[in-house]
Amino acid sequence: MNSVGNTRQLENRDAAWESVALEARRLVGIHGARVAQDPARFANNHQRIHGILVDWSRQRIDQKAFDALDRLATSSDALGFLFRLARGDVLNASENRSVMHMALRVLDLDEGSNSSDDIRAERQRMLDFATHVRQGKHTGYDGRSFTDVLHIGIGGSHLGPAFICDALASDCSLGVHFCTNADRREIRRTLRKLSPGRTLVVVASKSYTTHETLENAAFVRSWYAERVAADVDISRHFVHVTANERAEIGNERVFRVPDTIGGRFSLWSAMGLPIALAIGPQKFVELLQGAQSMDQHVLSTPVGTNVGLRLAQLALWNVNFLGSTSHLVLPYDTRLRMFPAFCQQLEMESNGKSVDVHGDPVATHTSPVVWGGSETDGQHAWHQFLHQGTQRYSADILTTLDTAPSPGDQTVHRWILANALAQSSVMLYGRSDSGDETHKNIAGNHGSTVILLDRLDAKTLGALIALYEHKVAFLGCMLGVNSFDQWGVEEGKVMATALDQALDGKNVGLMDSATAELLRTIRARIKNA
Ligand code: F6P
Repeated sequence: MNSVGNTRQLENRDAAWESVALEARRLVGIHGARVAQDPARFANNHQRIHGILVDWSRQRIDQKAFDALDRLATSSDALGFLFRLARGDVLNASENRSVMHMALRVLDLDEGSNSSDDIRAERQRMLDFATHVRQGKHTGYDGRSFTDVLHIGIGGSHLGPAFICDALASDCSLGVHFCTNADRREIRRTLRKLSPGRTLVVVASKSYTTHETLENAAFVRSWYAERVAADVDISRHFVHVTANERAEIGNERVFRVPDTIGGRFSLWSAMGLPIALAIGPQKFVELLQGAQSMDQHVLSTPVGTNVGLRLAQLALWNVNFLGSTSHLVLPYDTRLRMFPAFCQQLEMESNGKSVDVHGDPVATHTSPVVWGGSETDGQHAWHQFLHQGTQRYSADILTTLDTAPSPGDQTVHRWILANALAQSSVMLYGRSDSGDETHKNIAGNHGSTVILLDRLDAKTLGALIALYEHKVAFLGCMLGVNSFDQWGVEEGKVMATALDQALDGKNVGLMDSATAELLRTIRARIKNA
């Protein structure tokens, strides 16, 4: 689009943004309970898509406001944006990269295009390897099969795989263990449970420069060196997943992740190796099928009925027009307990930005603080804050209809489902019948979306994760930010390197008095340790 087109689009977008603001001014003084009382409310504010019921009827919004948000989505060309993302346009401008995670789950990849061939070939290599490990065809240095997988990775090289393994791998014969932190307590505790001859080590790092991961990988090699004779070839115990062609991997097996796959979007690639090892290649393919089905929905469904876009519009509305500062992800199924942590990186590393795609400061809020945790645990920890605190928030309340692991568990799982619905209700309706016992009043007026999964299987989970990926992409488009880079994390790494050298006694130049004193305190303790 030429500059005139860009200018006109920005003017249209500003006009649309103002019309949304107008609706917000109309609604902000009306308690959400009044809007939700409409008998047709549920009928007009939910969608069932690929085994997932998404019900936003308890959000603080009405159709007129949605119409204004639809005009904003249209003026932002949100659907065109996602089409261009799927097509491989360079939408990660700061890194001059296309954003290709949707291509990873195109199973009927069209023959001939290079990227499709590479993706299909690498996926098949990874799945075949997982099959050989699971079948005991790929064995360790003494010919025995593997009983455990030690996965070393962090951030997007950990959160997606760990979440899905935790959610789906209930009957896995392989023990899959995840180590992320450089704190040696974590990896020592894990290694105490493992036998070198039966363990497969996966070193997962797109950049292959992440300090924690390289530290942990080096420590595991020393662990082997202490337990296995030097003349024993242990290369069969190490497999690497990276985008870094220059990574020093020697003759050990490596699976490649294309540079065009963002870390937080990479579980569908060879980064999903631990998933395939844990749940098997067939279920990994079902995970891809679920995601592909959601891709087809968001790419073919117009504004107004596009579920991914609806969730993005609600996020933008709650943060920019209703003053929400945080968004809760609340799973009422322990199999989804890691979903909040996964969403934190997906949402906040994508849209926690303050300049737009042109490098200009954004004039709006972007990502809220995304947090949450396993429920009903949260109800005994921070729901007091939610119900009687002073901060505005919105929430996604998720649960599954197949929660009862066995017939005898039906009653208690019915109770869990009731809690999920109860919290959505109290968040909106609150409680005002406490008379002069005002300490018992609950203001309510917080919007929530209830997400019900028919069952928690690979296909439905793939569809759910893809839905959140599309929400993030649509939101970034309407906010005008680049959702696919993460320059904000680099400065901390540079500073940590300098301060680590300072702790090692090197002079790293000027610093404030607090840092100087803290370094002195730490150095004194380390020296005497
Ligand atoms: O520092 C942030 C980050 O780069 C994330 O974006 C990424 O998922 C994580 O660290 C791990 O990076 P890598 O896969 O390169 O080790």
